[in-house]
Amino acid sequence: MLLLPLIALFGEATASQGVAKDVERSLVVKKVPDHVRPYAIRAYTLDGYQVGSQVYRFPVTGPSSGNAFTLISTAAPASSELGVLPQIHQAHYENFYNLRGRFALWASKDNTTAGRIFTPGDYGAVPQNTTHSFQTLDPFTEMVGVIQPGGFEELFYFLATANYTSSTYAPFPQGNFTSPGGDADTISKLQKLDVWAQLQFSPPIDFDANGISGDKGAVWKNGTNELAKDSTTPFFVAKGYGPKYLSHSTTNVSYIVEPRGHNHIIPISFQYASRQLDAARSYSTGDCGWPSGCKSTRLRGIES
Ligand SMILES: *[C@@H]1O[C@H](CO)[C@@H](O)[C@H](O)[C@H]1NC(C)=O
Ligand SMILES: *[C@@H]1O[C@H](CO)[C@@H](O)[C@H](O)[C@H]1NC(C)=O
Ligand SMILES: *[C@@H]1O[C@H](CO)[C@@H](O)[C@H](O)[C@H]1NC(C)=O
Ligand SMILES: *[C@@H]1O[C@H](CO)[C@@H](O)[C@H](O)[C@H]1NC(C)=O
Ligand SMILES: *[C@@H]1O[C@H](CO)[C@@H](O)[C@H](O)[C@H]1NC(C)=O
Ligand SMILES: *[C@@H]1O[C@H](CO)[C@@H](O)[C@H](O)[C@H]1NC(C)=O
Repeated sequence: MLLLPLIALFGEATASQGVAKDVERSLVVKKVPDHVRPYAIRAYTLDGYQVGSQVYRFPVTGPSSGNAFTLISTAAPASSELGVLPQIHQAHYENFYNLRGRFALWASKDNTTAGRIFTPGDYGAVPQNTTHSFQTLDPFTEMVGVIQPGGFEELFYFLATANYTSSTYAPFPQGNFTSPGGDADTISKLQKLDVWAQLQFSPPIDFDANGISGDKGAVWKNGTNELAKDSTTPFFVAKGYGPKYLSHSTTNVSYIVEPRGHNHIIPISFQYASRQLDAARSYSTGDCGWPSGCKSTRLRGIES
């Protein structure tokens, strides 16, 4: 379906429009387009927004997704404090996926409070009206998430203490920075950006050896993690412990699909977004893991 726009894209670019237009129309961009079109971004080449010691980047924004969702990435060092003060979003459904390092995530709703230690590949779903917070735990921690509907990046444009660019593509800057969580005064004034502070919430930090706090007796990395029964209940899925399905593709490659969310919750599924990110990453790493080679990786990331 996207083949036509792609051909149009390259067709036009090659038609005597000069070098500047070629660059402008390149599939690989360093600035997210302000409208819907196919594109790819190399890891860490996007300018970031610094909030304390954290750097936020937005490979997909409201404008670049037709307001469907925002793809948000957070790169940060370990912190002795919460990464955001406890809060609720009334209109936005948020997802947390661990790409690197470790972080703790808490979600609290309907009298159930659950905390988990996330290692790479673990996933957490935070529906609307769920009190949540996180804390980064490793020297280089990176999380990525889909927030829908689109446009949530506006919050970080507002909160940023500095714009962040690195000529060496460092994920985040070194140095002493203010604590990332934000102060209670600021966070309490952000309701127009869909942040509803829950400063009375105190995240339980008594994690057991299995990485569970709050809902003691729950299953994490010792049994099957079920997806939530509906679109309003928070849930966590550890890498390798979720439901699995065998998928057969037309290229004779069979692979295991491990959905980390319901399509009916997230109109554009999380796998779409993580694949898009994988596709972007394959340019810089040359690692074409998904699922059948480099060329299709690039295209799949954009076509899906
Ligand atoms: C979240 O809570 C607010 C305030 O109670 C309510 O207006 C809104 O509909 C809720 N959102 C969802 C998706 O349930
Ligand atoms: C939460 O607890 C309160 C007080 O015990 C109770 O009234 C309420 O029904 C509970 N809510 C849910 C969704 O279980
Ligand atoms: C970041 O850059 C934008 C656009 O140039 C500018 O409007 C904004 O003030 C900058 N933010 C900070 C915190 O310096
Ligand atoms: C960072 O802060 C610590 C503690 O205040 C201080 O000892 C150290 O010199 C600071 N480092 C830099 C690079 O400013
Ligand atoms: C999983 O581990 C938790 C401790 O973190 C424990 O309470 C729970 O019973 C275990 N569940 C299973 C199915 O082993
Ligand atoms: C799939 O496998 C069959 C049987 O080995 C083969 O005939 C066919 O060409 C393969 N299709 C692709 C797309 O590789």
